[in-house]
Amino acid sequence: MSEKVRTLLSEEIIDKRICQIAEQISKDYKGKEIHLICVLKGGVFFMCELAKRISVPVSMDFMALSSYGNGTESSGSITVKKELDENIEGKDVLVVEDIVDSGRTLKFLLEELKSRNPASVHLCTLLDKRERRVVDIQADYTCFEIPDEFVVGYGLDYAQKYRNLPYIGVVEIEKED
Ligand code: PRP
Repeated sequence: MSEKVRTLLSEEIIDKRICQIAEQISKDYKGKEIHLICVLKGGVFFMCELAKRISVPVSMDFMALSSYGNGTESSGSITVKKELDENIEGKDVLVVEDIVDSGRTLKFLLEELKSRNPASVHLCTLLDKRERRVVDIQADYTCFEIPDEFVVGYGLDYAQKYRNLPYIGVVEIEKED
């Protein structure tokens, strides 16, 4: 068996869309500072590209979560694996994610962050697989809605590979004769 990656969203298309979303965010947060929170590891690439294009002051922090599921789907049981370095009380928090799938991870995270008394909490995601949603979570900023396909690149992995692809692709497994 061999793997192939078919391009779903090119680097150019992603770049354009991130510029649009960053402009929108900069307008919405005019006069404020944004505290970006990246969910490791997948969100890293998107967070960097987004942050570079936001024109209001930003600070950044990172969090890692572990979910115990069947490997392809997160379960309801999520815990914090790496804590934030800074207190978020009174801050305007914007969570940056690579993908919202079932929504379980984000539901847990948003509730956890809100309990820490920030001034506001919003969510920005690169990708949204809306048809896979099992809990009611909606992003405030979504770059792309995508179909239910196994995507990689721009931070997303397949067995830890392909995170560094500068585009979003679909993994296709080919059987060899
Ligand atoms: C991905 C993604 C989200 C989560 C979304 O992370 O970055 O955090 O899954 O899935 P959900 O909506 O079904 O909860 P993953 O667990 O693959 O970790 P990674 O970012 O380190 O690859």
